[in-house]
Amino acid sequence: MAGGAHIETGGRHYEGEVTAFVLITCFVAAMGGLLFGYDLGITGGVTSMEPFLVKFFPTVYKQMLDDSSTNQYCKFDNQLLTLFTSSLYLAALIASFFAATTTRLFGRKPSMFLGGLFFLIGALLNGFAINVEMLIIGRIFLGFGVGYCNQSVPIYLSEMAPAKIRGALNIGFQMMITLGILGSNLINYATSRHKNGWRVSLGVGAVPAILLCVGSLCLEETPNSLIERGQHVKAKTMLQKIRGTNNVDEEYQDLVDASEAASKVENPWKNITRRRYRPQLTFCSFIPFFQQLTGINVIMFYAPVLFTILGFGSDASLMSAVITGGVNVLATLVSVFCVDKFGRRILFLEGGIQMLVCQIVVGIMIGMKFGLNGQGSFNKGEADILLVFICLYVAAFAWSWGPLGWLVPSEICSLEIRAAGQAINVAVNMFFTFGIAQVFLSLLCHLKFGLFFFFAAWVLVMTIFIAFLLPETKNVPVEEMNYVWKSHWFWNKYIPDDAVPPAYNSSKAAP
Ligand code: BGC
Repeated sequence: MAGGAHIETGGRHYEGEVTAFVLITCFVAAMGGLLFGYDLGITGGVTSMEPFLVKFFPTVYKQMLDDSSTNQYCKFDNQLLTLFTSSLYLAALIASFFAATTTRLFGRKPSMFLGGLFFLIGALLNGFAINVEMLIIGRIFLGFGVGYCNQSVPIYLSEMAPAKIRGALNIGFQMMITLGILGSNLINYATSRHKNGWRVSLGVGAVPAILLCVGSLCLEETPNSLIERGQHVKAKTMLQKIRGTNNVDEEYQDLVDASEAASKVENPWKNITRRRYRPQLTFCSFIPFFQQLTGINVIMFYAPVLFTILGFGSDASLMSAVITGGVNVLATLVSVFCVDKFGRRILFLEGGIQMLVCQIVVGIMIGMKFGLNGQGSFNKGEADILLVFICLYVAAFAWSWGPLGWLVPSEICSLEIRAAGQAINVAVNMFFTFGIAQVFLSLLCHLKFGLFFFFAAWVLVMTIFIAFLLPETKNVPVEEMNYVWKSHWFWNKYIPDDAVPPAYNSSKAAP
């Protein structure tokens, strides 16, 4: 396959094992994903709870009651309410740029701590909200929390992990996201029957936030970040500790070299736009864009609506929580076990094809049942078939674009552009999460069943994009990625010869 360049990493095989210390450290850091997942799952449920709407959005609630449309495509859509929901993603987008500076200048730990702290303040403001202002300010704090965590946690995980299990450890982040979504859906289900249940739903967000705050205080800083900030001795000791061996000279030297190269860079933002970083800039921008264009958040945010249409009645929200949430968690495990063995590309490609097929089937079935006017219903057998395809779609996302959307951008950037690259990744991701939440209901009303084909077309584009342009990065040490670009049929022309040792260039030049 065109993109599957053979990778030569200069023969680097660092010594070391997978230590318990590194596993525990990564587990604690991955908690950052819980915050994001919790929020992704909690808000949709809360904004459909009657007491919450009556208290904060009474006019919206009245309009909702007056809405008597039977068109299944054109569900009640209020921009103010969706804007409230998605304001968090805008706040996260802005925060990711500040987080980049904190992460680079002060380390990964302070960024994670701040992420937890912001989220804690936001959860408390929301849980105790007495007016809309408190609610919105709380949401902005939550957004800052998500921005800080999503910027720093994936970098932290990729830097701590030994190359051979970097994928699995990094996917701990996505694993926590999916657990956060599942947990929050179940909490919503339990609280939705109580008058002040929404306070519990919003306030419980404080729990993962406290876990992350306390956890991040106990964590150690990554060797890469210590060297970046001049603490060489500490960095070497840390490297020995996390690799479980004293023989870390080669890896340590590579980190020092990477740091020296990075210190020559004055402005990481300007730097990442330079020609030699074109591959990283491309993937840090397109991977999050494509991840959102898979349409996954249509399922995550609107599953209860979708399941009601499918005829699950009053159990729709519980069913959607348990079924899609459960599949999401379990299928993420598949990628934990496969990503370092079979690589990133195969997961991307298989996941893409599976999502494509599922979207086409779902689109055809909905089109045949609801036609253009949106009138109709499914019988039990049809609903079951549809459900199977929705689950297969969620599973495909969960072992491909879900985890890899966070893993790949965090492992491809060299130190001098890492914080900036990850900030771009988070910002683009948040922007399109926001955009899709905002326009989904009106898109469905206009494109009808064609909406599924719309997302299918994007999945086709992104799968071709990966097939031709993404090289395999499994088992390649983070600071050795230049070899990967240099051996790729398309990206090699962007990488100057001095980016890899002369011996490598002469070996390539040989017939
Ligand atoms: C995405 C989210 C999505 C979640 C679903 C994450 O990787 O960034 O937008 O809701 O996966 O599990």
